[in-house]
Amino acid sequence: MSLTETREPLLKGQRALVTGASSGIGAAIAKALAAAGAKVVVNYAGGAQRAQTVVAQIQANGGEAMAICADVSREEDVEAMFVQMFAAWDSIDILVNNAGLQKDAPLVEMSLADWRQVIDINLTGQFLCSRAAAREFLHRGIAPELSRATGKIICMSSVHDVIPWAGHANYAASKGGVSLLMKTLAQELAPQRIRVNAISPGAIKTPINAAAWSTPAAEADLLKLIPYRRVGEPDDIAQAAVWLASDASDYVTGATLYVDGGMTLYPGFDQGG
Ligand code: BGC
Repeated sequence: MSLTETREPLLKGQRALVTGASSGIGAAIAKALAAAGAKVVVNYAGGAQRAQTVVAQIQANGGEAMAICADVSREEDVEAMFVQMFAAWDSIDILVNNAGLQKDAPLVEMSLADWRQVIDINLTGQFLCSRAAAREFLHRGIAPELSRATGKIICMSSVHDVIPWAGHANYAASKGGVSLLMKTLAQELAPQRIRVNAISPGAIKTPINAAAWSTPAAEADLLKLIPYRRVGEPDDIAQAAVWLASDASDYVTGATLYVDGGMTLYPGFDQGG
C-alpha cells in the first residue's frame, strides 16, 4: 500500500530519541514526532522541569514520551541514555541529533574552553549518539512492519554549514563538521538501509537567538537576511523532521534540507551584482 493510501499515523510504533529536546527546535520536533505516532525520548542536559513539561504536553495529546538526562558530549552519559531507552522500549528507529549551543566571541577573544565546548556538544555529541544508534540498527536489522529503513538519523545543522559567520568561529566550524559527518555516515551506512540526513535551519524563533528577533528593530534587521520576509518558527523545522523520519522520504539519504526562508540565496544580491 502506498503512503497516500494508508490512514495509519506516519510513524506509528516507531521509537525516537531527540537530543536537546527540552526547548526550542528540539521540543517542537519531539512533539511533532509524537503527534505522528512515535514514542519519544526527550533528552536534556539541564532544565529537567522544561523536559518534563514537553513530556506532559506529549502525553496530554495522547502520545508516549519520557525524559532522559544526558550530556551528549560525554560517552558514558550517551551510553547510559541508550541503555535506559532500550530497557523501556527495546530499540530505536529514529535519532534526531539536535542538541547544540552557541558561545559567541570574536576570534581573538575566544577561549579554548568555549571553542571546545561548542565542538564537543554540537559535533562530538552527534558522533557519539549516531554511533550508539547505528550499533543498535545494525544489531536489530530491518523491521518491515515499522519502516522500509533499518533506521533513520537526522542531524541538526545550520545555514552556517555554508554561510561563514564572523564572531561565531566555533559554531560555524561545528556545523561545517556536522555537514560532512552526516554525508560520510550516509555513504557508509546506506548499504545497511540506514538513512542519514541533515536539516539546516535559518533564523528560527528560539532562545538561542532571542536577541536577533525579540525587539522590532532587531527583527527588521534580521528580515533583511531572509528573502521570504518572516522569521521561522520551530514547527517549520519539526515538519521537515517528520518527513525525513518517515518512509515518505525513503529514497532520501545524504541530503541537507535548508529550511531557511531563502537565507542561503545570497539576499545581498537581490538588487543585482
Ligand atoms: C543560529 C542562530 C541564527 C541562525 C541564522 C542558527 O544556526 O543558531 O543563532 O539566527 O543560524 O543566522
